[in-house]
Amino acid sequence: KAREMEKQRTERQRRVVLVPCPFQGHISPMLELGTVLHSKGFSITVAHTQFNYPDPSNHPDFMIVPISDGLTDHDTSSGDLIALVSTLNTNCEVPLKECLARMMDQQEQYGQLACIIYDTVMHVSETVANCLKLPTIILRTSGASALVVYGVMPQLQAAGYFPLQDSTLQDLVPELHPLRFKDLPISKFESIEALLQLIAIVCTIRTSSAIIWNTMDCLEQTPLAQLKQQYQIPFFSIGPLFKISSASSSSLLKEDTDCITWLDKQAPNSVIYVSLGSLASMDEKEIAEMAWGLANSGQPFLWVIRPASVRGSEWIELLPEGFKEEIGEKGFIVKWAPQKHVLAHGAVGGFLSHCGWNSTLESISEGVPMICWPCFGDQKTNARYVSHVWKVGLELENMLERGEIERAVRKLMVDTEGREIRQRVIDLKEKIALCMRDGGSSYNSLNDLHEYILSL
Ligand code: UDX
Repeated sequence: KAREMEKQRTERQRRVVLVPCPFQGHISPMLELGTVLHSKGFSITVAHTQFNYPDPSNHPDFMIVPISDGLTDHDTSSGDLIALVSTLNTNCEVPLKECLARMMDQQEQYGQLACIIYDTVMHVSETVANCLKLPTIILRTSGASALVVYGVMPQLQAAGYFPLQDSTLQDLVPELHPLRFKDLPISKFESIEALLQLIAIVCTIRTSSAIIWNTMDCLEQTPLAQLKQQYQIPFFSIGPLFKISSASSSSLLKEDTDCITWLDKQAPNSVIYVSLGSLASMDEKEIAEMAWGLANSGQPFLWVIRPASVRGSEWIELLPEGFKEEIGEKGFIVKWAPQKHVLAHGAVGGFLSHCGWNSTLESISEGVPMICWPCFGDQKTNARYVSHVWKVGLELENMLERGEIERAVRKLMVDTEGREIRQRVIDLKEKIALCMRDGGSSYNSLNDLHEYILSL
């Protein structure tokens, strides 16, 4: 015990600096990683952009330092995420360097900087760390399968597949079965050239010495093995981070906990939970189809409609007329939910999701089967994995349409046709629990990561 405490005391003098990418789906796993490393004895600094700055009072164990990002209102509201990421990387270089240099100058106070762990997307961290001769480790906040897909995109470009033709959308991508061309991370909102440029950056490791993955061997063994072969650096698959860490919420929006009281009143496995994550949006037609699809399914539903996520409205003004009266107590709508608690609640029996990587992990780790309606980026790849590789969900294939939603909800949650899906996700939940347990792959990998950071 005394030796263990002494070890922790010396480690406490070693500091790890985390550089998250400032979006909800990226901030949460990075802060969860911070909590895990803190519990292993490291001091943690989070170098965070002013944009989407987290509430420090939620994270008393971390030193959170603001990095001036110089973003304008136009940068943050234009909806062009690729441009935003590029601007962030440019603007943060000098402030991040100054921040790290200051900490290195005052090691007496801060402890020795062991390494920088940065979100792949914040690649400027690596440039800065190199200047200061600090080692870096990458955190990947999305799945290994998504990176495999990114890796193939330049070949597809060279073979003349882009822009995608309507006639080929349903065809399988030769190197990526069972993905179809429509499952590639391409959206009509961004230029393919800009996307390929970003992909080239996030697929390159440069001088970083290892990759931490928010995934599990039991889920993505094949893509992980393939990437390991390719990159030839240590991999630590320590997910699902939200389960492994005891981090307090890093929600940027206020979580409405009334929905938990409402869930408490519902029958076990009866509720379909609906959320499209932190970025995706819908139009007026889609919200109407979703609304009637849910109402007609006959299942109670908890629906997150984020403010401003319905284009052309502030919140729920565009819900169809008569809808609220029709559903009465049967449906509950919130602006933002405590999603992890919702998915762990016994009343929830299905998740209609955009399939962001965090939502996907949260759902399958709790044994909740999914209905996939991916919107952009890696969500489409994740959705295909959910429905056709792990087979723990159904994908809505076309435009949102009320009949299709109604049928999918019933199939997933009620009909005997969906029984295998429901069973498979319970099996997967158990496998994931095993990964995290003493001796499981994520558990072991986390211990390896601990030793690895100490060895840097
Ligand atoms: C985007 C990408 O789509 C995703 O694949 C990528 O890995 C990260 O960025 P995002 O829209 O943020 O994702 O979705 P997701 O990755 O699912 O993350 C959303 C997070 O917000 C989840 O952790 C979820 O629990 C949380 N959330 C969502 C809430 O806490 N409350 C809500 O009401 C909705």
